Amino acid sequence: MAASKTHEIKTRGITILQNGHKEIRRLKKASHTPSIHGHKVWNSSYVVMDYLKRKPPAKGSHLMDIGCGWGILGIYAAKRLDLQVTGVDADPDVLPYLTLHAELNGVDITPLRCRFEKLTRKKLEGVETITGADICFWDELTPVLFKLIRRALKAGVRRIIIADPGRAPFYALAELCQEKFNARVIERRTANPKPASADLLIIEAD
Ligand SMILES: C[S@@+](CC[C@H](N)C(=O)[O-])C[C@H]1O[C@@H](n2cnc3c(N)ncnc32)[C@H](O)[C@@H]1O
Repeated sequence: MAASKTHEIKTRGITILQNGHKEIRRLKKASHTPSIHGHKVWNSSYVVMDYLKRKPPAKGSHLMDIGCGWGILGIYAAKRLDLQVTGVDADPDVLPYLTLHAELNGVDITPLRCRFEKLTRKKLEGVETITGADICFWDELTPVLFKLIRRALKAGVRRIIIADPGRAPFYALAELCQEKFNARVIERRTANPKPASADLLIIEAD
């Protein structure tokens, strides 16, 4: 693919296309219009990347990025941390953006169209790490994600990292998790590709 250098971001060893890039415009013209906020890369993703870099999962282990959108966080995990990655999203129209970026960055990511509610214990077996950036943005997502975290821990997932810039449904989820699981919230910032901060809810298996 001949990528024009404008409308392209290079950060943390990966390449991300912006909305004005001709390949992104091509997908939009083909009617791939994400409908549940998956129309761009959200900043919390970068904060999770930096956290994973400092505390990486075992090489070759399975990371599932839920509500993956364009899949950039998972692409970073595959390319820079040598993880086996599944990108999960309810919206089928985000997955072509994931495939485009995986090809561009030379990694294999398994795309899975699935709602949080339908990620069964069986589908979660063998996963070591779950990440989710900017996925708890509606009140109704709080109980859905709480139950998913509970299923994931039962399925043997070791660590779950949910990042958010500070919305009320996320803090409600954090409170529930801190009551029931080994969970904590930390605040982290990044300057790249633009200044942003996010709270990370980190839940670890006992
Ligand atoms: C704000 S975007 C964040 C995308 C990506 N994580 C990022 O940081 O760029 C939220 C994503 O969650 C997905 N999503 C929302 N509700 C979902 C659900 N119930 N099950 C699975 N995915 C969902 C949306 O389709 C969207 O791609």
